Amino acid sequence: MTLLAWALGLGIACFLIWWLLIETEGVYLGRRVVIALYDLVAHRYDRIKQFDEYADHMLVSQALLAAIAPKTDPLVLDVATGTGRVPLLMASSAGFHGHVVGMDASKRMLSVAQSKRIAQGFDSFSTLLRADAAQLPFPAEHFEVVTCLEALEFMPDQAAVLAEMARVLKKGGILLATIRIDTRWMPDRTWNEPKMRTELEALGLRDIHFAIWQEDYTQVWARKPL
Ligand SMILES: C[S@@+](CC[C@H](N)C(=O)[O-])C[C@H]1O[C@@H](n2cnc3c(N)ncnc32)[C@H](O)[C@@H]1O
Repeated sequence: MTLLAWALGLGIACFLIWWLLIETEGVYLGRRVVIALYDLVAHRYDRIKQFDEYADHMLVSQALLAAIAPKTDPLVLDVATGTGRVPLLMASSAGFHGHVVGMDASKRMLSVAQSKRIAQGFDSFSTLLRADAAQLPFPAEHFEVVTCLEALEFMPDQAAVLAEMARVLKKGGILLATIRIDTRWMPDRTWNEPKMRTELEALGLRDIHFAIWQEDYTQVWARKPL
């Protein structure tokens, strides 16, 4: 009986550790833990994620260029840029003549982004910056495009981050974010479509729509009215 109780306790402890550190990436333990975990996995992040570059080009960079057309030189902010997914996609897109600021709170994720940027020769198209998503160090109405992929659910205050993204977006500008499809494992952290629509409308954003993207995430598009 005692052995069974120990085994049960150990099983529950292992599940809790897995859920807190792996499945939910430290989000219930606070911002510092989230960033520390990203620092820890930064050098393996791209291998773990195995992004489909073709799909990303079609559904992120080409879709953004189409949304902002006829402008080809937009100033883009990628919030929680990680290893530089959006900056590198934009920089390698034919027809993009703008500039992307990629910002993230993890020093090591940014350092991987920096190595890739230099290796691929796209350093003139982008700038990388370490900052917190809830306090964007930019003036109001500064960017034509603001993106935040696969990251909002890891922020302690998603509403504050969205408000910051809306603040720095120019009138007529495009916002692209994502929401998780499976909301079971992160209660109170993952927003569904109606919740996201309500939050964006409250920030004055319009033309809100959701687009199928990949297995785990749906894209959320919105525009700041002129
Ligand atoms: C799942 S990764 C997504 C990275 C990138 N957007 C992509 O699609 O590959 C989440 C990123 O959010 C960043 N992050 C988490 N909390 C943050 C915060 N409060 N401020 C800025 N970045 C944050 C992490 O460091 C990590 O790089």
